[in-house]
Amino acid sequence: MKFIAGNWKMNGTRTALKEMVDALQNVDTENKVILCVPYTMLGLNSGKVSLGAQDVSAHEKGAYTGEISAAMIAETGAKYVIVGHSERRQYHEETNDIVRQKAELALSAGLTPIICVGETMEEKQAGKTMAVIESGVRESIPSDVNQDIIVAYEPRWAIGAGLTPTEAEIAEAHKLIADTLNNMGLYGTPVLYGASVKATNAAEIMSIPNVDGVLVGGASLKPDDFIPIITSVK
Ligand code: 13P
Repeated sequence: MKFIAGNWKMNGTRTALKEMVDALQNVDTENKVILCVPYTMLGLNSGKVSLGAQDVSAHEKGAYTGEISAAMIAETGAKYVIVGHSERRQYHEETNDIVRQKAELALSAGLTPIICVGETMEEKQAGKTMAVIESGVRESIPSDVNQDIIVAYEPRWAIGAGLTPTEAEIAEAHKLIADTLNNMGLYGTPVLYGASVKATNAAEIMSIPNVDGVLVGGASLKPDDFIPIITSVK
């Protein structure tokens, strides 16, 4: 079983989500399919597909105009929330500390956080990839986790750019993440790969050791692109 998670980012409509959910009902798969959609689409009937949000406030409640709390997301019936996505880190200056606070609140509301880590092009060129990934994992995950969490490795330079790391680079990053999680006592935590995943590379990427699934951006928006990714692995 692999995790196939879509991240719609700021795209789609409630109608489009309904069409996607309808199209997914007949897909014969044992993989776990998750769609992380804009807040306004949460709460729609999603059948066997689990819904998730793409961000959550770092505050529990109160005077934070415009923010959405973990409890509010959970109340919609959503099960997951992405935290620390590279676009949040880049455009909203989210640090590992903020990401960890968000993950803590998600967990206390009963949500499974999908905690993203990954290096920028600048960090990659400076030879810091492994250090950034390891500190991202260590600093973004709350201590004393005793619920499910998911980690996603998203090389930030590859997202939306049509670029993908080599298989060896993905393997090295995922091995480091798995080893770090084991050192933290978080055995068996699923680790997803995300950046420029599409039907033509999904099976190959998911055959790499320690890759437990994928987090898909652009190719998760249309059933014709997303379904072949879901069915590319058993
Ligand atoms: P793309 O698949 O569009 O590169 O986006 C990846 C991503 O950011 C998933 O969260």
